[in-house]
Amino acid sequence: MKTLAPSILASDMLYLGAEIKKIEKSGSKYVHVDVMDGCFVPNISFGMPIISAVRSCTDLVVDVHAMIVNPDKYIKDFAKAGADIITFHLEALEPKRVMETIDAIHKEGLKAGISIKPGTDVKELIPYIKCVEMVLIMTVEPGFGGQKFMQDMMDKVRFVREVAEKENKELDIQVDGGINNETLKVAMEAGANIFVLGTAFFKSETLIDAEKLLGE
Ligand code: DX5
Ligand code: ZN
Repeated sequence: MKTLAPSILASDMLYLGAEIKKIEKSGSKYVHVDVMDGCFVPNISFGMPIISAVRSCTDLVVDVHAMIVNPDKYIKDFAKAGADIITFHLEALEPKRVMETIDAIHKEGLKAGISIKPGTDVKELIPYIKCVEMVLIMTVEPGFGGQKFMQDMMDKVRFVREVAEKENKELDIQVDGGINNETLKVAMEAGANIFVLGTAFFKSETLIDAEKLLGE
């Protein structure tokens, strides 16, 4: 499965309902919701009320990207608000709480994703690859939309894909940050299959066609 995951961080919040309809119309299967706490990242975005609002107006997969400290404290709240996938950052927790967080997400019946920032060694993900449904490789420093794609993160994508294949694990690999028509192809070739688009989706003059972009 390949899909776009348009990020509402770049959308017009005043017309969030209409922006979500645009995502549906594009043929994307996911809506990416960037939760930022001003602590794990130097920016504050939105939280539970927005996740609930998104959930109330679509059947798309609600893909929550939690850029927050202590994500384990909020799993139940994310679930209640209507998340389908919760991705948290490896750097946001001490190691012994990482597995507990994955288990807590699964207990809610949701898919678990784990993410690393550009500066984090991809090998740190090894113990968790077999336990999660998705790995998110950040291709910018998390916190803001509109940044430049970091091509050197593709080694991490290739590495995670190799580990998953060796372990016979069906795994989604998501890339997030600076994804557009060109960088999407680069990431796809490296082994990614879920592509977050903020600026490239919402600032485009014409509606993005997911099938076309994914080459299907
Ligand atoms: C950045 C967020 C991204 C952001 C991507 O921290 O995680 O999801 O919305 O925006 P673009 O596509 O503009 O780089
Ligand atoms: Zn994101």
